[in-house]
Amino acid sequence: MKLKNPFILAPMANYSDLAFRLLCRKYGASLAYTEQVSAIALSKENRKTLSMIKTCREDKPISLQLSGRDKETLLKVIKKYEENYDYIDLNFGCPSKKIVNCGYGSALLKEKEYVGELLEYLSSNMKRPLTIKMRSGFKRNESLELVKIMEDYVDAIAIHARTREQGYTGKADWNIIKEVKENVSIPIIGNGDITSPEKAVEMLEYTKCDYVMIGRAALGNPFIFEQCNDYHKNEKYKKYSLEEKKEIFFDYYKLLKKYDLLNLGLFKGQALEFFKGYKGSKEVKSKIVVSRDINEIIEIVKSF
Ligand SMILES: Cc1cc2nc3c(=O)[nH]c(=O)nc-3n(C[C@H](O)[C@H](O)[C@H](O)COP(=O)(O)O)c2cc1C
Repeated sequence: MKLKNPFILAPMANYSDLAFRLLCRKYGASLAYTEQVSAIALSKENRKTLSMIKTCREDKPISLQLSGRDKETLLKVIKKYEENYDYIDLNFGCPSKKIVNCGYGSALLKEKEYVGELLEYLSSNMKRPLTIKMRSGFKRNESLELVKIMEDYVDAIAIHARTREQGYTGKADWNIIKEVKENVSIPIIGNGDITSPEKAVEMLEYTKCDYVMIGRAALGNPFIFEQCNDYHKNEKYKKYSLEEKKEIFFDYYKLLKKYDLLNLGLFKGQALEFFKGYKGSKEVKSKIVVSRDINEIIEIVKSF
């Protein structure tokens, strides 16, 4: 994996749509992922799933993130869709009960032998590079052992430095990323608790990871990638005002329209992320939550 800069947008369900990815790329994200999609749903050409993986010429480089466990199903969808993506990523990190109960996501971290078998099978039968996004373990940190099993078959591994058991509690343990990076030769993408450009550069320097992946801090702040790159090069960066953020939000709206992706629920979610943390945000939030159409949300934002 060779990217133009170290700052990557994380896959995030209900947020990593094509329009949001394009916005983050405009501000310098060097790689973006689709949100995780079920290999089974994709194999059935489920309409909603297809809209979740929609991409375009400008949306590059792009990684298609799949969740699943059955070798044949995964290979079938990889073969069908890989031409349109630069990387195929497997989700070995999702902590949700629904996913874990199917044996997907972080549940796979409990099956080391099967993980090796699965990755060997997929990587030897596909054209595109395969990557992994994982938690540090299911109940305890086992990342080094897991990464050692995976490294022969994949081009990069993103590690969210929390166990499945931790959910989002506690702190991501960056020592885990540092330890893995010291012991393997493939690119390592560090992830977890990057809340600012300063933190992004701190993770790069402390863990020596190749890339850092930014999730929640990019929500409502697609320009964080510009800020990270500027801070990395010059130790300073531009801050964005509320008025500028509104402009960026309207750019997001235009992109959603252009790619036929407008959806009230998702639009509300993004609007809430863009306008939190300001004086008056509480009232705006309560108005957005009960709004019944997209134009109403636009008017609320305009008058904020
Ligand atoms: C709303 C939301 C949705 C997420 N969806 C996915 C997903 O589809 N696939 C995935 O691998 N991780 C997903 N994640 C996890 C993030 O990619 C990332 O690993 C995690 O948020 C930690 O990084 P952060 O501290 O920078 O947010 C999601 C996280 C959030 C907050």
